[in-house]
Amino acid sequence: MNIPQHIAIILDGNGRWAAKKGMPRNYGHTQGAKTVERICEDAYKLGVKYLTVYAFSTENWNRPQNEVDALMTLLRNYMKTCTRTATKNNMKVKVIGDKSKLDVDLQKSIANLEESSKNNTGLNFQVAINYGSRNEIVRAVKKIIIDKDENKLNIDDIDEKILDSYLDTKDIPDPDLLIRTSGELRLSNFLLWQLAYAEFYVTDVLWPDFTKDELVKAIEQYNNRDRRFGGVKGE
Ligand code: IPE
Ligand code: IPE
Ligand code: MG
Repeated sequence: MNIPQHIAIILDGNGRWAAKKGMPRNYGHTQGAKTVERICEDAYKLGVKYLTVYAFSTENWNRPQNEVDALMTLLRNYMKTCTRTATKNNMKVKVIGDKSKLDVDLQKSIANLEESSKNNTGLNFQVAINYGSRNEIVRAVKKIIIDKDENKLNIDDIDEKILDSYLDTKDIPDPDLLIRTSGELRLSNFLLWQLAYAEFYVTDVLWPDFTKDELVKAIEQYNNRDRRFGGVKGE
């Protein structure tokens, strides 16, 4: 089986999963975080080198305040759990998104997690927090303009590679496979640039129920795809 080098996941359906159990939405998020932990291990054992998960979007601030607060608390705790698992599993963790809008203590936990795991050589694990692809591109453009004003960059040098290097995903190869759970058929502002040639896999399974078998199913489907990159089959 050909294992995708980079899998990106829009983990969705935590709220619906909880509702089905008659529980508050936040219970679904707690279970969802546990699923992330499991899938990191499973993906790495299967040979995946990069895994990126969408944990909180720039639009998720529009949710009711109590859900936003609970999600921030969960992310705070998750950064600590993740620091332990990163050490245990040799994972290199990076947070993508606009971190400057997060509480200072959360920013510190993120910096700590990134720093303590930066020399690890196992799974490269990216977590998207306050991430929106359009916001990422706007921030990249601003940084490019600053560098141009400081004569670090010429306008004629700007190409796809340069723009890529100003994104939060700098040095991370584009995803080969995008998985979205809970049956939704949209990108919801996730990695618009980076997913240009990714294969999509959607499943009705709600994220807290996502298992290694589901991951294998997604990879099997990926293996049946013919990635042409605009070329011709077999060329
Ligand atoms: C995904 O689950 C997690 C986040 C967006 C934080 P949802 O909370 O979107 O779950 P549904 O879509 O309402 O079921
Ligand atoms: C996308 O899920 C964002 C994350 C998974 C973090 P949403 O549940 O927020 O997306 P929409 O609102 O259904 O598009
Ligand atoms: Mg959702």
